[in-house]
Amino acid sequence: MDLRVSVVDPVKGFVEVLLSHLALTCVLLLACLTAVRWYIRDSHRVGGFTQKHVFITGCDSGFGNLLARQLDLKGFRVIAGCLTEKGATDLRAATSSRLKTLLLNVTDSMSIRSAVEFVRREVGERGLWGLVNNAGRSVPIGPTEWMQLEDFTKVLNVNLIGVIDVTLQFLPLLKKAKGRVVNVASILGRLSLIGGGYSLSKWGVEAFSDSLRRNMHHFGIKVSIIEPGFFKTGVTSLDLIEADLKRLWAGLPNDVKDSYGATYLDDCGYENAELLYEHPMLSGYLQGYLVHGARSHCPVPTHTLWSRLGRQAFLDPPILPPFFCV
Ligand SMILES: NC(=O)c1ccc[n+]([C@@H]2O[C@H](COP(=O)([O-])OP(=O)(O)OC[C@H]3O[C@@H](n4cnc5c(N)ncnc54)[C@H](OP(=O)(O)O)[C@@H]3O)[C@@H](O)[C@H]2O)c1
Ligand SMILES: *[C@@H]1O[C@H](CO)[C@@H](O)[C@H](O)[C@H]1NC(C)=O
Repeated sequence: MDLRVSVVDPVKGFVEVLLSHLALTCVLLLACLTAVRWYIRDSHRVGGFTQKHVFITGCDSGFGNLLARQLDLKGFRVIAGCLTEKGATDLRAATSSRLKTLLLNVTDSMSIRSAVEFVRREVGERGLWGLVNNAGRSVPIGPTEWMQLEDFTKVLNVNLIGVIDVTLQFLPLLKKAKGRVVNVASILGRLSLIGGGYSLSKWGVEAFSDSLRRNMHHFGIKVSIIEPGFFKTGVTSLDLIEADLKRLWAGLPNDVKDSYGATYLDDCGYENAELLYEHPMLSGYLQGYLVHGARSHCPVPTHTLWSRLGRQAFLDPPILPPFFCV
């Protein structure tokens, strides 16, 4: 009996399948290469975390709060910007004595200036290793026609102008450390699925981050963007979004309401958005990407993490008729 035949045949069979399904082969190869590239980039880490300071905005809740705790556990010197005193006190109670908090409202330039002074005293000659622009707000979200100009500006001021102001004011400290900036954008910075200032602000964050990356390359500063989908946190709270939609509707003149029809708001099915929350397991990946931005030697420029929302936008039959009334 020739043993070689029985060993070689399955391999030959597999190769034949691959060759006859060229598209499948290409996809498999591409997936393998991407995984290997990611593995190499993520395992090539900077050392000396205990001497590296990372400043994060919006740490009262959600992604920022989780990231502050995780980087603290990993030994980084975290300085957490919180909007409220309660957020700061709760975070300090849950973390090591290395973690410092400060109060920061990103729409207030003076508040940012005080934060820079605080951080300058903390980091000394080392400079600031990491800046994570995470603070954000979502509402008002809804049909464009229902908005006043200030509905746009109150979101743009936090999510875009706030990011620009914070980054500009922290740049001298970041240059000193040849540090990195991680900006939390959104998949809505690539797809304008909803009306209001949110998508505009996130498109702006994408554009600002891409130009900042090119401009700061000269100084060894790395810039990465995280694009989450739809995770269950404060900004995606359906109660908040619903209450605000009702506020917008109530403020409309009668002739505009009539043009939509009396039951438009009730019929638009925004409560089904609950079905679009990403699987909680993906939150772990998201945190992994944020941590990667702080500790990898060469952080990946853009991380995209959205599955259910993406399928809803392109593949699945719409469950929101039409998305958030838009
Ligand atoms: N959750 C998602 O699915 C998702 C998807 C894409 C992008 N994002 C982005 O992820 C980032 C974090 O959001 P999250 O999901 O973790 O929601 P979150 O829990 O609401 O976190 C946002 C934080 O920013 C704070 N903040 C609001 N206005 C601020 C201001 N003027 N100055 C400083 N801090 C301010 C909020 O404080 P208060 O709670 O006290 O207002 C809150 O702690 C945001 O940029 C958001 O746009 C989230
Ligand atoms: C943040 O600052 C803006 C501008 O100074 C102010 O209107 C807003 O009320 C402040 N927000 C909080 C929560 O303090």
